[in-house]
Amino acid sequence: MNPVSLYFDNAATSHPKPEEVLDAVVHYHRELPASAGRGGYREAVEAGRMLGELRASLARFVGAASPERVIFTLNGTDALNLAIKGFVRAGDHVVTTAYDHNSVLRPLHRLEADGVVTTTCVPPRDDGMIHADDVVAAFRPTTRLVVMSHASNVTGAIAPAEAVGRAARARGIRFLLDAAQSVGRIPVDVEACAVDLLAFPGHKALMGPQGTGVLWIRDGVDLRPLREGGTGSRSDQPYQPEELPDRFEPGAHNGPGLAGLLAAVRWFERAGQDRVFARHRVLSERLFAVLAGIPGAVVPGPASSASRIPIHAAVFPGRDPLEVAVALDRRHDVKVRGGFHCAPLAHRRFDTASAGGAVRFAPGWFTTDEDLARLDAALRDVIG
Ligand SMILES: Cc1ncc(COP(=O)(O)O)c(C=O)c1O
Repeated sequence: MNPVSLYFDNAATSHPKPEEVLDAVVHYHRELPASAGRGGYREAVEAGRMLGELRASLARFVGAASPERVIFTLNGTDALNLAIKGFVRAGDHVVTTAYDHNSVLRPLHRLEADGVVTTTCVPPRDDGMIHADDVVAAFRPTTRLVVMSHASNVTGAIAPAEAVGRAARARGIRFLLDAAQSVGRIPVDVEACAVDLLAFPGHKALMGPQGTGVLWIRDGVDLRPLREGGTGSRSDQPYQPEELPDRFEPGAHNGPGLAGLLAAVRWFERAGQDRVFARHRVLSERLFAVLAGIPGAVVPGPASSASRIPIHAAVFPGRDPLEVAVALDRRHDVKVRGGFHCAPLAHRRFDTASAGGAVRFAPGWFTTDEDLARLDAALRDVIG
């Protein structure tokens, strides 16, 4: 990408990545010609050690005590599929929200169409927020799982994860938190929020490479694996081992991607999570101010930028969101995403669906105040 391009699509995947992330990917390819856990030679052992260090770092990052329960997945979608399809049983009722992503909604819709589960979807109120009381009101005696996006990928609204997690725990309902957009932008703590299953990608605000994702599984939560195969352990046995992480990680790992993710987590540790989260709060406030200043722009969701992560979608009345996104790219080299953002229910809730969705703006750690000023000028030109 041209270095002067303005990348505002960090909700899809982050760009740029810290240099050390890129170096780690190349270093793995050059120096570790091995599949972790598949051999006793130095490089294979080193690759296995790297995966162990990454599990421990990620567990620390989300306040979890059990690194072996950190499972590597292909992306956020893969983690959510494993959590949902691996957990539910016939007759379960599942509660979810209208802010959820298709990676939650589609597996649930399939299970519902197949007669396995029933679901209730809780909408945000007019203030743009999901309210814990509404989620709790949807619980039934047969509810076994509540799935919730920690922060909307359309409005950036932050969900009441702590209240929902505690209410679910008190009723013996398991809580799956989709931290795809929150991890790396706001604190995520599995103990504070009584989370049982935590799914997140490595390639969004964590700033790791694409092709990385994580599912953390609380001790005592039993999932069926969705894939079986070689694990490099108990290879003479006919069935996949029961031990974690092997039970859920058959097949060769994405070694280069995971090496890059480890470099990303180390980057966070050095930068200081609090400093990064503080910057994201400022980005949310400044982006909100830019959009609010564009004549006619409507920004659905919470009225205060403090209730949002820095992902804000806007509608420009009379303008097609896809056409606005293309014009921003062609005329100003600004990268944004128009449309439905794989979250159709959020757009239906705020009636942006009838307009073809919205234009989503998602700055990242590397976005400067000057970039926001250039976005402002580009929008004023395109929207007119
Ligand atoms: C809220 C939410 N959940 C899940 C996902 C899926 O993550 P991935 O793109 O890594 O599959 C996304 C991706 O945009 C998302 O925004």
